[in-house]
Amino acid sequence: MRFSPQFLDEIRDRIPIADVVARKVTWDKRKSQPSRGDYWACCPFHGEKTPSFHADNRRGRYHCFGCGVSGDHFTFLVEQEGVPFPEAVELLAGEAGIPMPARDKDAEQREKVRTSLYDVMDIAAKYFEQELQSAGGAAARAYLRDRGLTPDIQKRFGIGYAPDLRNGLKQYLTEAKVEPAQMVEAGLLIAGEDIPVSYDRFRGRVMFPITDLRGRVIAFGGRALSADVPAKYLNSPETPLFHKSHVLFNGQSARTASRKGGHVVAVEGYTDVISCVAAGLEATVAPLGTALTEGQLRLLWQMSDEPILCFDGDEAGLKAAFRAVDLALPMLEPDKSVRFALLPEGRDPDDVIRADGVAVFSGYLDAARPLFEMMWRRASESGQFDTPERRAGLEKQVRETVGQITDGSVRHHYEAEARVRMASFFGRGAPNSGAGRAGRSKYGNSGFGNAGGRWPGKGGGNTSRYTSRNNYRDGPAAPAVPSASLLSNRLVRASGQAASGDINIQDAILVGGLLAHPALAEERLEKLAECRFSGRDLTLFAQVLGAAIAQAPDSGHGDLMAWLEQTGDGPIAANILARLRDCGVQDMEPGGDISRAAAIWDDAWHLRLSATTLSNDKKAAAQALGDDASDIDIDRLRDIQEQGRQHGPGPGDLNAQGADQGIVHPFKPARQ
Ligand code: UTP
Ligand code: MN
Repeated sequence: MRFSPQFLDEIRDRIPIADVVARKVTWDKRKSQPSRGDYWACCPFHGEKTPSFHADNRRGRYHCFGCGVSGDHFTFLVEQEGVPFPEAVELLAGEAGIPMPARDKDAEQREKVRTSLYDVMDIAAKYFEQELQSAGGAAARAYLRDRGLTPDIQKRFGIGYAPDLRNGLKQYLTEAKVEPAQMVEAGLLIAGEDIPVSYDRFRGRVMFPITDLRGRVIAFGGRALSADVPAKYLNSPETPLFHKSHVLFNGQSARTASRKGGHVVAVEGYTDVISCVAAGLEATVAPLGTALTEGQLRLLWQMSDEPILCFDGDEAGLKAAFRAVDLALPMLEPDKSVRFALLPEGRDPDDVIRADGVAVFSGYLDAARPLFEMMWRRASESGQFDTPERRAGLEKQVRETVGQITDGSVRHHYEAEARVRMASFFGRGAPNSGAGRAGRSKYGNSGFGNAGGRWPGKGGGNTSRYTSRNNYRDGPAAPAVPSASLLSNRLVRASGQAASGDINIQDAILVGGLLAHPALAEERLEKLAECRFSGRDLTLFAQVLGAAIAQAPDSGHGDLMAWLEQTGDGPIAANILARLRDCGVQDMEPGGDISRAAAIWDDAWHLRLSATTLSNDKKAAAQALGDDASDIDIDRLRDIQEQGRQHGPGPGDLNAQGADQGIVHPFKPARQ
């Protein structure tokens, strides 16, 4: 259809071009002059390091002086985001709050009906709100109060109450001159051929209005007050306004909030959304009583490249998470993915926030795992791969799952990562097997391993907000460890228990060093997050440990051990420490000399860095040495390191001069 120039102009006038472009770029603060509506950024159409892409709010146009692209609001969405033109118009009209023009006679008619249905929904919403405040709403008000939903929040979400009457709403709408047919069409009445007299669909329920992306009420979810009603929630049926697979609860305000940064989260229930929003996590949405759909994931991707899908800690939640894996795989594109947060046994976000506070809940979000991990977990969950047939079975399953990915590039990288995992997974007792190392060097920077496992850093960043506000630090009586429930999280726990002898000594130093001396973690947590460890157990354990220290930076070794005991990670922690002891790395052990421990840790880290840039044959040599670390000579290592520093590049230098001198393993003298 053709849109009138006036209509398009109106949209351009209402939305600054910079707002449209800002979905994709980060403005260069020095070059931009917001007061003049003048913005500069690196061009999203071609790769560049210095900003030559200009957005001009006054003219409503963008132009790149590097590659020459230019255009307006709509071309940006069409060319940058691949949105069809009519949808780009509709999307921006929605954002601008301008109604779409009617299409043709028929469409005009439909539009009219729709408009009046919006009015009907609006009247109904007002009725429910009034009823909540009336004498008959006392029980509902008490219910909401008991759930911790304050009057402010009730108002913000337009929460109401449908009294337990067959004709309450029907009568109210009749008085407002709404035709019975419209009430039925809006899904507000139960009607049908076998029903002589239509009656209110929602009775005796707390009502949650569901709005579209322009904030108009298009449906309701009604929660029963009592537990003995067959359906806890009753939702509006599909209507001309409401296509539930394309709507997210709280979608509109979450989209606005998502522009401010922070996690974009999809939870399972309405009340979970409300609790999250009340706790300040405004970019939270939920599907509407069904599993997440394709349309809903697309909506999420409009808000964030990597929304977090947060599932309740029950069987249903885990199943839903696995369903979401299958939903997302065929839809993946470069940079577009999802992460998964699973809550501890028997809890939903509302429970966690109310019982443990938003800091703990945010901890789960920060610990959300990449899609790849979720897929791998499902495939390898049975854990029995002790025969060639079973291993072949795992391989087949992974191949089939990865085969669902339609984007060639993403699929290719999944295949590569799957090969790496498979190799280290089957590499019985051989951590740092060739595949493991190759994985580190080739894919180490691609973010596979810890795309989701980035731990909250200290200072700066979105997550530190929670760390610093966190009650472990401020509360006088609070323990110096994270909530015990934080990582009883089934997704995060390192369930396996790599035997101590299987642990590569360099790994043991990197992980065990911070476990034994948490004070060292201050500047090293980020580094730990970048390390890729061989074997699933150690990788998970490193993530658990990193998350624990990030959550409670003041914990001592004893606090951490006590806490790991609770999360079921005690045995692997003990094995790692035992490995250090067996190898004679005394300073690394709890109570050892911390400054020497720091030096050893840093050496191990530099060697780890170097190893990633070694040429392949040298890497193989490194491995040959690394696999046998029975006799260790820390002093010798330190000498060699020292020489390497004097002769070659500095410790942080990735060119790894040391490697050329044969310094390939920290704890073995180099073979000449
Ligand atoms: P939950 O059972 O997890 O609900 O269902 P909840 O949000 O935790 O509910 P409360 O805390 O007991 O009030 C999650 C979502 O599934 C849909 C609703 O959208 C609900 O928010 N649902 C659930 C239904 O549509 N019908 C039902 O009977 C139950
Ligand atoms: Mn709940």
